[in-house]
Parts: sequence; C-alpha cells; structure tokens
Amino acid sequence: MRIPMIAGNWKMYKTVPEAVQTAGALRNLVDANTAVDVMIAPPFTALAPVSDALRGSRVDVGAQDCFWEQEGAFTGEISAAMVVSTGCRFVIIGHSERRQFFGETDRNVNKKLVAALRSGLTPVMCIGETESQREEDQTFSVLDKQVKIGLEGLLAKDLQSLVVAYEPVWAIGTGKTATSNQAQEVHRFLRQLLAEVFDTALSQTIRILYGGSVKPQNISELMAMPDIDGALVGGASLDATTFDQIINFQ
Ligand code: PGA
Repeated sequence: MRIPMIAGNWKMYKTVPEAVQTAGALRNLVDANTAVDVMIAPPFTALAPVSDALRGSRVDVGAQDCFWEQEGAFTGEISAAMVVSTGCRFVIIGHSERRQFFGETDRNVNKKLVAALRSGLTPVMCIGETESQREEDQTFSVLDKQVKIGLEGLLAKDLQSLVVAYEPVWAIGTGKTATSNQAQEVHRFLRQLLAEVFDTALSQTIRILYGGSVKPQNISELMAMPDIDGALVGGASLDATTFDQIINFQ
C-alpha cells in the first residue's frame, strides 16, 4: 500500500560536475523495475543539471531546503517556485542540521511546508530528538511538538503527498543507528499521532522514513519493520554503488 522510498541527502557535498557524474552512475544502476521510489537531494547549485541528467529515469530529485516567501529581498534564499523550476519534485524541510546550525524552528518548518505544498513540491519533513532529549525521556514529547507545530493549519487533504523522516539526531553521521526496534517504536508512535491529529486513512498512507547512519548492512533489518517505509540516507548516498545497494535492499 505504501510504496517504500529511499532518499539520499547529499548535504554540502559535490560540485556540479561531481553531482552530475554520480547522478549518471545512479541512473545506470537503478533499474526501471525497482520496487522503491528513489530520490536524491544534491546541493542547490546542482539541482538543474542533475534533474536534466535524470529526466525520464526512476530517480527523482529534491532540494535540501527552501524559503517560505515567494520572492523578494531575501539575499541568499531560494523559493519553492525556484526549486520547482529546476525540475525538482521534492524538498527536504527541517533537517536537524538546519535546526542545529541555522536556527530552524518548528514555526519556520511550518511556513516552509505550507510554501512547498503550495508550489506542488512533495515535502520530506524531518523530525527527531537529540541524545540528551532521549536520555531525559523526552523523545515522544519532542516529536509530538515537532509534528503538531510543523503541520499546524494544514488539513489532511493538503498532506496526501507528505513524507515524514524520523532522524534521531544522535544517529546522524555518527555510525550509531537506532536499532530496528527503537525506530519501529517511534514510527508507530508517529503514525498514531498522525491518526489523532488528522485521520487514520491519512496516517496509513503517509510514508515515514528512518534516517541516521543507514548503510547497506542495516537497511534490510530496518525495512522489515511494519511502520518503516524507507530511509533518508546521508553519507552512504554519496557513492552510487553503495546507495544502489541500499535501494536494492531485498
Ligand atoms: P547519515 O545522515 O546517513 O550520514 O547519518 C542522514 C541524514 O542526515 O539525513
């Protein structure tokens, strides 16, 4: 019912030629019959050339962020419409590195989600607790707040395409993956929360990805869990062969 999705977040890696090269290699590896939806999110500078290189393939392209205003004097920012014009269909919103290093708040995430949806982009909303929040048993309350404020004012009908990515901050880039049971516990909680806030039908169709040190070695175990619908992969998405091993996890 929910088509699994494997997404790659390239973060601040790869120049334009490097990004186009990796995208081309991935295009050759990802089979037309692959059972999962595949997306990569290169840096802004490479979005248009990578979209061109992947046109007609099974690999979609996403941006790593967008601003909420449509246009204006906002030096350095990129609007959702600009992202669409590069050929992208997706946008990652609220990644923990944006929250940690660039002051992203749940309120800003909400405004960006509204702007992305208005432009027809499919948002991948990232949420997750820090190590100290987990140690202090705040995981569920932190996620509750991130979901409720992040999606405030939106209706179930607006969110048909939404993708959620649960990324425990302590597992990102650290090599410490949440165990599949730890991840499943949170994913089940998130699905119940979406059912409470919106409706059960929506909660059953929204894909909830896991992110945080996903590798070819741990993807199968994570994907075996009933509420894990895919992965948002950082480091291991930078190499086409490694990423393809994650895509073809079965
Ligand atoms: P990682 O990053 O796979 O390198 O841990 C995941 C992410 O930040 O989305």
